[in-house]
Amino acid sequence: AMHGRFLIFVWAWCLPLMLVVTAAEEQQVGGCSAKSCGSVSISAPFWFADWQTGRLCGSPGLPDFELTCYNGSHPLLPSSVPYSTGFAITNISYGERSLCVVDLGKLELFQDASDRCLPLWNTSVKLGRQLRIDPINLNLIFYNCTEEATAAAAARRDRWLVHATTMGCVNASNAFVRAGVPYDPAGDYAGYALEGCDAIILPVLGMSPGETSTGATDYEQLIKDG
Ligand SMILES: *[C@@H]1O[C@H](CO)[C@@H](O)[C@H](O)[C@H]1NC(C)=O
Ligand SMILES: *[C@@H]1O[C@H](CO)[C@@H](O)[C@H](O)[C@H]1NC(C)=O
Ligand SMILES: *[C@@H]1O[C@H](CO)[C@@H](O)[C@H](O)[C@H]1NC(C)=O
Ligand SMILES: *[C@@H]1O[C@H](CO)[C@@H](O)[C@H](O)[C@H]1NC(C)=O
Ligand SMILES: *[C@@H]1O[C@H](CO)[C@@H](O)[C@H](O)[C@H]1NC(C)=O
Repeated sequence: AMHGRFLIFVWAWCLPLMLVVTAAEEQQVGGCSAKSCGSVSISAPFWFADWQTGRLCGSPGLPDFELTCYNGSHPLLPSSVPYSTGFAITNISYGERSLCVVDLGKLELFQDASDRCLPLWNTSVKLGRQLRIDPINLNLIFYNCTEEATAAAAARRDRWLVHATTMGCVNASNAFVRAGVPYDPAGDYAGYALEGCDAIILPVLGMSPGETSTGATDYEQLIKDG
């Protein structure tokens, strides 16, 4: 049952980001009339290179806003960390200067460990300088622990700390997930550190602060929320 819950959870990852770019900077990027990729319409400050035609949409602007249209079905925002997987954009609100993305790198946690195991990065370090994480997100924290730390974490009987069932390259026996962690302005989430465990932090939308239960019904609702 636990396995199913985590799989369901994956599809709910939706991480709103805010644009930090100013209107003046946007002007320089102009010249790209609205274009779409899948159901997302792309216009300044975003621009993209069409893989099929090799054509650039708009004058290339700030690299943080360069997208590729993957398979004609969804726009991809690259990670600013080389050799790490970026983000799929699910929607963009130009008026609110915000966008909602799925961190594709974290989806790899739910795939079977394959021959290549890329290192995981905190979502925040993969973002370009022009984007920041909306503080309305709550965070999921993935822990990869040593054996001693695993025993200690399991003994905590902390109901927000759930033993993972599938963790890609990380041995799931030693992995935990914590949900519903509020935004930390200091960015270090020190209050949630577990000794002997590496932590990876992933902001998600779709949980309200009171609703941190890991019950299956909540995850179902998260899917429906997108
Ligand atoms: C590519 O797009 C087609 C048609 O939109 C879709 O059926 C297919 O699932 C997509 N492939 C991938 C890998 O996303
Ligand atoms: C994107 O879609 C989600 C789910 O429908 C919604 O909650 C969110 O406000 C939307 N974000 C933007 C930037 O439009
Ligand atoms: C997980 O932790 C173990 C023990 O600390 C370490 O050997 C392993 O490399 C870590 N795995 C990943 C993917 O970080
Ligand atoms: C995962 O860790 C457990 C407990 O430390 C160990 O018994 C098991 O052999 C490990 N599995 C793999 C595939 O390394
Ligand atoms: C992710 O962020 C946490 C909290 O700031 C930090 O403790 C951890 O070392 C970071 N992990 C990586 C791989 O950068």
